[in-house]
Amino acid sequence: MKYILKKSYQLLLVAFVLLVACKQKETQPKNTEVTALVSKMTLEEKVGQMTQITLSTFYKKGVFQEEKFKKYIISNGIGSILNVNESEPLSVEEWHELITKIQDYAKETRLQIPVLYGIDAIHGATYTKEATLFPHNIGLAASRNPKLAFEIAEITAKEVRASGIRWNFDPVLGVGRQPLWPRFEETFGEDVLLVSEFGTQAIKGYEGTDLKNNKNVASCMKHFLGYSVPQSGKDRTPAYIPEIVLREIFMPPFKKAVETGCPTIMINSGSINGVPVHINKTLLTDLLKNEWGFKGLVVTDWEDIMYLYKEHNVAKDNKEAVKMAINAGIEMSMVPGKLDFYNDLIELVNEGEVSMERIDDAVSRILKVKFDLGLFDNPYPEKEAVANFGLASYKETALKTAEQSMTLLKNETINNKPVLPLNKNSKVLIAGPGANSLATLHGSWSYTWQGDREHLYAESTLTIKEAIQNKIGKENVTSIAPNKFQEITTSEIKSVTQKAKNVDCIILCLGEISYAETRGNIDDLELSKDQIELAKAAIATNKPVILVLTEGRPRIVNEFIEGIVGVLMAYRPGSEGANAIANVLFGDYNPSGKLPFSYPKYSGNLLTYDAPIRNIKTYKPQWAFGEGLSYTSFEFGEIELSSKTLNENGSLTVKVKVSNTGKMDGDLVIDLFVKDLVASIIPPMKKLRKFDRVHLKAGESKAVEFILNKDDLSFVNAYLKRVTENGEFEILIGNKAVKFNYN
Ligand code: GLC
Repeated sequence: MKYILKKSYQLLLVAFVLLVACKQKETQPKNTEVTALVSKMTLEEKVGQMTQITLSTFYKKGVFQEEKFKKYIISNGIGSILNVNESEPLSVEEWHELITKIQDYAKETRLQIPVLYGIDAIHGATYTKEATLFPHNIGLAASRNPKLAFEIAEITAKEVRASGIRWNFDPVLGVGRQPLWPRFEETFGEDVLLVSEFGTQAIKGYEGTDLKNNKNVASCMKHFLGYSVPQSGKDRTPAYIPEIVLREIFMPPFKKAVETGCPTIMINSGSINGVPVHINKTLLTDLLKNEWGFKGLVVTDWEDIMYLYKEHNVAKDNKEAVKMAINAGIEMSMVPGKLDFYNDLIELVNEGEVSMERIDDAVSRILKVKFDLGLFDNPYPEKEAVANFGLASYKETALKTAEQSMTLLKNETINNKPVLPLNKNSKVLIAGPGANSLATLHGSWSYTWQGDREHLYAESTLTIKEAIQNKIGKENVTSIAPNKFQEITTSEIKSVTQKAKNVDCIILCLGEISYAETRGNIDDLELSKDQIELAKAAIATNKPVILVLTEGRPRIVNEFIEGIVGVLMAYRPGSEGANAIANVLFGDYNPSGKLPFSYPKYSGNLLTYDAPIRNIKTYKPQWAFGEGLSYTSFEFGEIELSSKTLNENGSLTVKVKVSNTGKMDGDLVIDLFVKDLVASIIPPMKKLRKFDRVHLKAGESKAVEFILNKDDLSFVNAYLKRVTENGEFEILIGNKAVKFNYN
């Protein structure tokens, strides 16, 4: 018996060893395959892999330049291509044709290394016709439901991969703390926890568990670092961010994304404290790669090596700029329109200005992403992936995510009845530039870069006016609205009085047209003058005026807001946004969103909710971070703690009973804030530390539970160390508060 036991033990041991070996075999190949391939490559082939060229380089006035295209891919061996031809979207079939041509050319190179195609699909597959577009991040964060970011990313990945593309330049992990910035809509708002949680869910949604799967794409966290707070508010202008703020606010979302395994990162076009980030080795190599252990590829943003000498004036010419950027830690240059980078880098290596070791590291990182994406197994568009494009369920997700983003900011009571939701047999006047506009509902990266070519939107997309007509009947809707988002004329403003005579209320559709990057730079956060005049004319009719805002950033409305009885913040709600707005206005959906940013009342007061407590007397936004109403009413019970003291290695259970005391079922977003009552640096007014979202039927109550530990109380101190200090803290949930001690 003993012998048999011994034998089987030995057999078990052998089996175990074999299992481990082949497991390692599975994980190893990429590294050995990469190393093996790099060892065969010439310097020119390596530099080719580090060169990314935009598709429009090969178009002149709409004419495709096949010979130039072939030369770049076959003779220069460029490794990556991005974007579209003059930013018009392609159909899935057209994408397949293009990507097939590219990979056919790549097959003619000596080593047949596939080309990695990258695209911007930051709220749906931007550049594929008939793709579904979802709410931009700025609205999505109002849902406090990061699972939605996962779902949207999952669908976007399927539609991008169905197009034959396997790399998406998303998520944006910038923290939106400068509302003037034209890319504010691309952020998840001003709070670092929201950005971290939503950002990592987006990465998980894009990546799935295997990049070889034809439903997944490689994600790209961006724009590292400090891009979202240009001092002037203008895109790509210098930012001055103290190290303590960089570590407290701007680094955590990226650190979390690195831990989540995001395989690529795009660098901020701007600069921090006078140093363009593209040459900041401390950030790109010491912090990102050495301290955080990032093993993926670092790609520049558009023309950002060229800008080092053309705009930042830190390099005398392109060659010096290339040397600075590659030695700082860049792997791939989004050149993206010519071969200067390619030629200069080859020279720099031959002159010993850039080491072959640095080149091999960069190329290895790039090739690893290509191996992980299965491009070496099959670089061509996967026919079977096309079945994942355009499913009806995507529209349902687009509606669900838009509805959960809707944020009701004002709902006055008239004759003992809240003005919203409106009765479905109301007669309404719809007025304003947002009524007939698809661009205002979608914002940037919507079928085109600027999102402003309305004829390119999917057929099924409705405007606010169309959705309301569908809801209550065309005969109940009159309107004063241009056919697209443009200035309201004086005569249109004058016609309000007349047109309002026989209506029950006025729905004012104001906000912003779509814009992307520098095209959206503004000098004044105030809403445009014509829109303000229209609002005043509507208020002067003495009819109830409801304001629907579709905008990428909080435009100031204080000049007329007192006369408005209802305000619905819709942000950039996407393909089903108009239906979501109509559903909320007429009570088919009970809004639950909470602002993910502070909505300024004055352009001179842009404080965030977590500013140092000394600001508490001047934090006077139009609507505060976390504000949002419902059609029902909720009540919070007293906050119960598992203990009055939290110890260093312990945890604190926070329990609170929430009740729906109204007549309508609804979702309740619960923000748990913590105040550090005394700290070694001025503590924030409060800090969001946990959040949740629960559904409560009318009359229903639920106990909601959170677990806090010392990390949830931490902050970066004056010595740039993340610490949790002993002392008294206060938990705030709804209108309830309770204190406890940490030691
Ligand atoms: C743009 C944007 C960046 C985008 C890239 C490629 O300038 O800054 O977010 O991914 O270029 O289109």
